[in-house]
Amino acid sequence: MSVDRVLAWLDEHDQDSINHLIDWLKIPSIGTDPAYDEHTRRAAEWCRDHLRGSGFDVDLIETAPPGGRGQPMVFGHSKADPAYKGPRVLFYGHYDVQPPDPLELWSNPPFEPVIKPAEGKVGERIVARGAEDDKGQVTMFLEAMRGWHEVSGKPAGGVPFTIMIEGEEESGSVNLERFVETHKDVLSKNDVVLISDTAMLGRGKPAITYGVRGLVYTEITLHAADQDLHSGAWGGKCPNPLNELAKVLAKLWDADRRVTIPGFYDDVKPLADEERELWKKLGIDEVEALAGIGLGPDANLGEKGYSFTEREWARPTCDINGMWGGYTGEGAKTVIPSHAKAKVSFRLVGDQVPQKIFDAFKAWLNANTPAGCRWGDVIDHGLGQPATLPVDSEELRAAARALKRASGTDAALIKSGGSIPVAGLLKQDLGLDTIFMGFGLEDDRIHSPNEKYELSSFRLGARSHAVLIDELWKLGG
Ligand code: BES
Ligand code: MN
Ligand code: MN
Repeated sequence: MSVDRVLAWLDEHDQDSINHLIDWLKIPSIGTDPAYDEHTRRAAEWCRDHLRGSGFDVDLIETAPPGGRGQPMVFGHSKADPAYKGPRVLFYGHYDVQPPDPLELWSNPPFEPVIKPAEGKVGERIVARGAEDDKGQVTMFLEAMRGWHEVSGKPAGGVPFTIMIEGEEESGSVNLERFVETHKDVLSKNDVVLISDTAMLGRGKPAITYGVRGLVYTEITLHAADQDLHSGAWGGKCPNPLNELAKVLAKLWDADRRVTIPGFYDDVKPLADEERELWKKLGIDEVEALAGIGLGPDANLGEKGYSFTEREWARPTCDINGMWGGYTGEGAKTVIPSHAKAKVSFRLVGDQVPQKIFDAFKAWLNANTPAGCRWGDVIDHGLGQPATLPVDSEELRAAARALKRASGTDAALIKSGGSIPVAGLLKQDLGLDTIFMGFGLEDDRIHSPNEKYELSSFRLGARSHAVLIDELWKLGG
């Protein structure tokens, strides 16, 4: 089984692999928007057909509940070589992308990918929505599989994979739990989960991510009068729900920037000194990171007692993502609105339970209802569990060896502040651990205009996945 031949094949077919990614990126699979459902399905079919071309047995499985919406799951497997004795792997990814708005900030239309030359520290790259998150990263796996199939004649070089590539990750994976329940038998035959949807420590610094945060995302409404009012006639005589909402939400944090909701930290695990030391040694430059988003060192702010990196990897947070009401159009309009709205989210760590935090937030809102106002329904826009994974499994060590062989550099062990809810779900429901082997860079602008993926990341990811096949074989002796 010659991995060198697969690596040579990847080199020879480099342009072809990039063209495949470009084709996929042209399909606007904005999973959250029903107006794009037809395109989203086309992106799923594209992925299915690519895998079929590499000998995988895959289909689209509908995920919608009766009478509801749902994006199809690309679901299937590769047949094991009879001689294979290593672990069975569940590969997860997502083909849906975030909405591209605001469109006017893109240098090229988001679904018309452009390859841009290197500029300074930023290498040659593909600019398009989904270039990194997650089509670019999934395509590295797809192309490595194509290489193995072409060279060995066997799908995935004989390693048994289950494939689960979803179209709802960016909209909260609402149908995923039911899907996992329904397909429990097939899924639980696997020994480990492999996901490429995270970042590296930096340029030329490959990494394995051993933890992601959970998420609670809510939308709240505060009502006062049953109509909008003239602010001269009524201002100062009755509550302005926008003023009141601003005052209430300001109470979510204390002077140390800790969240004030009772019980919020109950299930957070204290950060061990050894882990703190290991993270310090990673050499993360917070001043440079802040400079990269236009901020000075004085902007290194967050919960007291924790460093820049610790606040992202080990601490829960609360954020207002949007707040609106009354008049937000051009010019002035004197108005006291009838209601005010906000989107409030929480990132979770440790053993925090999304439903418990959601309920605690609701109770906190009720206990802090401004006089003369009332809360509308608190909308749940998606809950995701945090996941912390073991760093000593033989599969993780195999992935680290694959990264080392593909890049020549030791892989760092890092965590991520982002959320990939499937990992916590598969751990809870099936006891499966995940290995996050991702190749993003901090400045890839995921979810933002001008999202990009550097070709060096793409190539390293494809090579690493190709070598991982060899390492998985070796685990079987
Ligand atoms: N790939 C990201 C998660 C991520 C971001 C990992 C940055 C590592 C670094 C994923 O597609 C994502 O955007 N997740 C959402 C959560 C989801 C429930 C909407 C997130 O983290 O906001
Ligand atoms: Mn993603
Ligand atoms: Mn994302």
